[in-house]
Amino acid sequence: MTVTDCIPAKEKLIVFDTTLRDGEQSPGVTLSPDDKIQIARSLSKLGVDVLEAGFPVASPGDFSAVQRIAREVGPLMEGREKVGKPMIIAGLARAVEKDIQTAYDAVKDAPLKRIHVFLATSDIHLQHKLKITREQCVAQAVRCVKFGRSLCDDIEFSPEDAGRSDPEFLCEVLSAVIEAGAGTLNIPDTVGYNTPAEYGSRLAHLIKHTKGSEKAIWSTHCHDDLGLATANTLAGVANGARQVEVTINGIGERAGNTAMEEVVMNIHTHPATYPVYHTINTVHFARVSQMVADLSGMAVQANKAIVGKNAFLHESGIHQDGVLKNKETYEIIRPEEVGVMTDNLFLGKHSGRNAFRSRLAQLGFDQVESSQLQAAFEAFKRLADQKHQVTDSDLVAIITDSVSSG
Ligand code: KIV
Ligand code: ZN
Repeated sequence: MTVTDCIPAKEKLIVFDTTLRDGEQSPGVTLSPDDKIQIARSLSKLGVDVLEAGFPVASPGDFSAVQRIAREVGPLMEGREKVGKPMIIAGLARAVEKDIQTAYDAVKDAPLKRIHVFLATSDIHLQHKLKITREQCVAQAVRCVKFGRSLCDDIEFSPEDAGRSDPEFLCEVLSAVIEAGAGTLNIPDTVGYNTPAEYGSRLAHLIKHTKGSEKAIWSTHCHDDLGLATANTLAGVANGARQVEVTINGIGERAGNTAMEEVVMNIHTHPATYPVYHTINTVHFARVSQMVADLSGMAVQANKAIVGKNAFLHESGIHQDGVLKNKETYEIIRPEEVGVMTDNLFLGKHSGRNAFRSRLAQLGFDQVESSQLQAAFEAFKRLADQKHQVTDSDLVAIITDSVSSG
């Protein structure tokens, strides 16, 4: 036996994007059909494996957007060399025959298609929202998954509010839907309630105790109400999930869904920690993030991980000095890896002489005498005290002034 025989082979992580479905459920966001096609094309080039294009029964507009995506984007292969196949186009459906038929009609022209059926399983949803018993819930789930399978080979089932459902009841429902033909089992923490330890052990428990579990792909779907969506998703992956449901920039209901760029870059940065690899073209992240922000009207906060405008900027003198000597002193990801082309030194009141001199050199002032440089640096600090960011034109004015008066 060799050493490599002992290292478990990594499995591929399936990235399921729901920007156009759960993401569009962000309050105030409505994307036009053309916006959706544009985003879907970019997600295809990004290397997304499954695209949830919408909730076809919700409105005629949603139906036709999903249908257009299935026909126009579903077959595309451009930029998908690492993935090796087109995107699977999924349509969401409640566990109701009419929804399932409508979802199928919307996705059926895609070369690869999926129906995603959901039904709540927590007692609070069963008693107060659906007003059905646990027995009725199992029967409805089985009937609908079977109906879905009569139309389409690829069925995903989600027990809505799984994060607050009784784990033993979840095992019962999930065993029954596997038997009925569901191939992917998604575990939604619908209200963002779980902690990472809870969500991870919930996944591990379900995978261990559900009958036929080994035949299914297990999936995470987390919401960010307590700011834990990314941590919970990664805990799911560490405990056996092989599909993650995510959105670009983490947009979605209330506080949003898990952000794709965060999960993928965690797996990218810690290859030894997670038992999976991804096939996402990370260099497109900055561009796709900007496109989704522009089209959805949901601005990205400046300090957002990976895609925020400050994510790769350094302001303090100590950090700038370190980065000028070796970027790895303060950067764990190279900005180019996520498509950020930046001069990453932000000149403000915390900046140091080294960053100041380096920026002046980039602007062509690399032969300035040290006394003039000192005068210019002092003028820069005085201005930085009054102004949040000192721009390149400010710098040119300062140095020109110092050189002419020195
Ligand atoms: O959060 C949720 O439970 C959902 C399901 C429809 C999968 O979005
Ligand atoms: Zn959701």
